[in-house]
Amino acid sequence: MADAPSLADKATLIIDGRGHDYTVRTGTVGPRVVDIRKLYADTDVFTYDPGFTSTASCQSKITYIDGDQGILLHRGYPIDQLAEKSSFMEVSYLLLHGELPSSAELDTFSNTITRHTMLHEQLATFYRGFRRDAHPMAVMCGVVGALSAFYHDSTDITDPEQRMIASHRLIAKMPTIAAMAYKYTLGQPFMYPDNSLSYTGNFLRMTFGVPAERYEVDPVIESAMDKIFILHADHEQNASTSTVRLAGSSGANPFACIAAGIACLWGPAHGGANEAALNMLREIGRPERIPEYIARAKDKNDPFRLMGFGHRVYKNFDPRAKVLSKAATEVLDKLGIVDPVLDTARELEQIALKDDYFVEKKLYPNVDFYSGVILSAIGFPTSMFTALFALARTVGWVAQWNEMISDPDQKIGRPRQLYVGAAQRDYVPVNQR
Ligand code: SDX
Repeated sequence: MADAPSLADKATLIIDGRGHDYTVRTGTVGPRVVDIRKLYADTDVFTYDPGFTSTASCQSKITYIDGDQGILLHRGYPIDQLAEKSSFMEVSYLLLHGELPSSAELDTFSNTITRHTMLHEQLATFYRGFRRDAHPMAVMCGVVGALSAFYHDSTDITDPEQRMIASHRLIAKMPTIAAMAYKYTLGQPFMYPDNSLSYTGNFLRMTFGVPAERYEVDPVIESAMDKIFILHADHEQNASTSTVRLAGSSGANPFACIAAGIACLWGPAHGGANEAALNMLREIGRPERIPEYIARAKDKNDPFRLMGFGHRVYKNFDPRAKVLSKAATEVLDKLGIVDPVLDTARELEQIALKDDYFVEKKLYPNVDFYSGVILSAIGFPTSMFTALFALARTVGWVAQWNEMISDPDQKIGRPRQLYVGAAQRDYVPVNQR
């Protein structure tokens, strides 16, 4: 018989004068949860939490974030250690399987991913349907959603083997799809994957290489790109991950679920912020124009927000922003690039972090504030920034999707509402209105 729950393990909700007890569950670390699954059945009352600011949608072992301390752990490992010491392939294995791989396990995993990097040839034709100036994220949404029309043999979500093949296919093909989306905007020929290269080196060659000449992967760029992929790989139950989980809860195939995640990530409040942040920094141009933009960000009547600042969870520095801030200086120095936007970013950060508005609202730079400076130095146009975010986040999405499907607590997601519309009324014929 389990011990009787202590007071810390119980919450009582009094509705219409009657008390209803609910279990309080404690995780490994972080906020406890009140298990309210029986609330509606007990009380005929819903909870109300638009934006899910106080709601846990699931239990998970993958990523932990402490917003007050600015901590981000992947399967218990701090993000700064992974960014400095690991590789995107190794972090991908960790996210999917829960443990850091042995050398043999990493080789097998990397080889498996490498063997899935090619796309069905017919998909190259699919790109031809887009305008050349289509936003790469529009192409990513379309092409990834179409994958289920080509890989039917890995869409049975009840089969763990098919789930893992689909996961490997998605992780492996996203670089190819993203690189092709970029090439298509340029009118340059698509580059086939080169299995002799690393995951990230292969992506750089497919993106910046041309058939007419040999492409040498620059180790500085390869290392910076790989670090950026690691920093974007997963982030708990963010909007796009929650979208993937919700889509997956209906039994939709994995390719459709990831396409849904890509669509959600595109929003400027989410993954689209990296593109918006660099555009904003370029628009500001000179440090002397920063006060004007700070004033706009604080003006309630102005919809302008400081892009790359603020976060639903982090009320301290986003640990990924700290790594990216340091990497920005390192990469630009190594590449011999002087970009005034980096000075503007640093100046903006300093001014904002001393401003009462940002201090009171605990608004700090997030992952999107510095990433664009590095991506621009590597040679990407801002329109590709969110596609790169989607490429890296795919492993987090598929890890969370697999966890959701295997979770006995999970069922189709179906939130309710507080109805504030018209009470029932009878139809009025048009000639009597
Ligand atoms: C990502 O969830 C994740 O984990 C996402 C992510 C991931 O890895 O998956 O970390 C990636 O999406 C990072 C966030 C990128 N987005 C941006 O940089 C866009 C700019 N930031 C904001 O729009 C905003 O900060 C959000 C959307 C990120 C968070 O918004 P919240 O948590 O809903 O907070 P809020 O909008 O209620 O803001 C609280 C207050 C408001 O003022 P009041 O109404 O209380 O007076 O802070 C203000 C906001 O107006 N505020 C900002 C601001 N962000 C919040 N004011 C100016 N500039 C900003 N950037």
